[in-house]
Amino acid sequence: MYQTIILGSILLVSFYILKRFRKPKLNMPPLVRYKIPIIGHTYSYMFNSEEFIKQCKNEYGEIFSIYIWGEVRTIVGKEYSQEVLTRDDAFSFGKAFVETIPLDLLLKHAGVTNVPKLLKDYIFCKLNFYSERMQKCLHSAIQKYINTNVNDGPKVFNNMYLLMTKIISTPVSNIFIGEVRFISDLLTLQKIPPLLNFYYPGYLNRILVSSGLYNPAIKHRNILIKYIKNQVCNRLQGKAKYGDSWKRPDDLLQDIIEQENIDLNNVNYSSLADKIFAFLFASIHTTSTGCANALMDLASRPQYMQELYEEQLEVHKEADENGVLPFEALDNMKKLDSFIRETLRLTGHILALDHSVLKDYTFSNGLQLPKNHTVKIYVDDIYQDESLQGPNPKSFEPFRHIDKNAPASKISKNFVLFGAGKHACPGRYFAISEIKFFMHNIILKYNIRTESGKIEGRKLYGPTAYPSPSGIIIEKRKAK
Ligand code: HEM
Repeated sequence: MYQTIILGSILLVSFYILKRFRKPKLNMPPLVRYKIPIIGHTYSYMFNSEEFIKQCKNEYGEIFSIYIWGEVRTIVGKEYSQEVLTRDDAFSFGKAFVETIPLDLLLKHAGVTNVPKLLKDYIFCKLNFYSERMQKCLHSAIQKYINTNVNDGPKVFNNMYLLMTKIISTPVSNIFIGEVRFISDLLTLQKIPPLLNFYYPGYLNRILVSSGLYNPAIKHRNILIKYIKNQVCNRLQGKAKYGDSWKRPDDLLQDIIEQENIDLNNVNYSSLADKIFAFLFASIHTTSTGCANALMDLASRPQYMQELYEEQLEVHKEADENGVLPFEALDNMKKLDSFIRETLRLTGHILALDHSVLKDYTFSNGLQLPKNHTVKIYVDDIYQDESLQGPNPKSFEPFRHIDKNAPASKISKNFVLFGAGKHACPGRYFAISEIKFFMHNIILKYNIRTESGKIEGRKLYGPTAYPSPSGIIIEKRKAK
């Protein structure tokens, strides 16, 4: 036993040393000085990232490298961030993402489905069509998770993010609400330090998942498979009963079944479940984070409530007798849209949008990176820059985007939350519609404020921001 451990350790250390000395002769970005081997900058990166990265940039310039978790990572400031985001021949977001959350192992039955294409072809082009369902689902989820609790008076809600995953997953999945835990379970992998990355990118997480020590997909897959089996059975019965007059269900499940010519009498359920998970994963965490942050930003600044309320009252005049708005009504929520863009702009990450280098790359300033290296975008540098954001870039000014031709879904050099270029998030219109319909509902029905009575900022874990778990008091508006 001991011999194996010692041998294993020697092998790992030798591999590590070999890797460090096998450096390619490239004009690499400057490496920030550090004192303690192996630890390098990990401590400052985890516990003081905002100041640490700012100082590094001041001293080393737009592109520099730091040594964290036993690996060299390159940080790219605002001047060169577009090069990383738009050169998809040289940089990949997806590859870097899989190094943190090994989706290829977690959803190994999904096969070769092109998720972006599937979503573009079947969901995003029909946003107008899905709008009524989205609103009805949001409405019932808000009733279920918020309203029942506040009927008796003001109520404190802690950890809005978790509540939001439940609310947001209702329209997103429209059906399998029980699956939301999967998303937060998966994100646990994001918080595991990448300790063995020097050996192989994402190695520790891959071991945890493939050994079964931590594989959140397994238990959730079984629940989802049970649900899908039920659906397939209903659809088979419906087809048999009604023949050509059978009304096909309008959902992603049916789209996948038809697009991939799946024989309903011979379904590979694991594969179908994994494909649906990929869709849920892309949409629920991101949109829930946006909603939780928007809610906290409004609760932190109740002085903007009245103005937003008046706008939503006006917009609501367009609703039908069931309270459903036409899709076009979203365009008239100008103040709310600007508020949401401001929330998203100030999401709070210091570094984000990790990309893997696909081939040796030379930046326009001559600095070079080798294939398989990982870069992080210094997004705080973009969002705190006056020339890009306008005056007082650090302060939350909810109406700063009005009349600037900058709706919340619009990507630009000064707004990279959804990425940029060819691979910019195709789900952003879907997400923004959902956040707007959600906030419309909340603003019309409730008054909100923070439990502390103060502005609650985001929670930083290293350079990554998460919604504040602090309490929000939600109180039903008095009927006039
Ligand atoms: C506030 C919500 C959201 C945020 C902040 C967000 C953010 C992102 C980012 C940063 C990327 C990578 C872009 C790049 O490579 O440059 C991305 C890609 C993607 N997102 Fe989103 N997203 C959100 C909502 C959604 C939703 C609701 C869906 C699906 C319904 C979705 C589906 C996708 C897909 C399929 C890709 C891959 C695109 C490709 O590789 O071509 N996202 N998203």
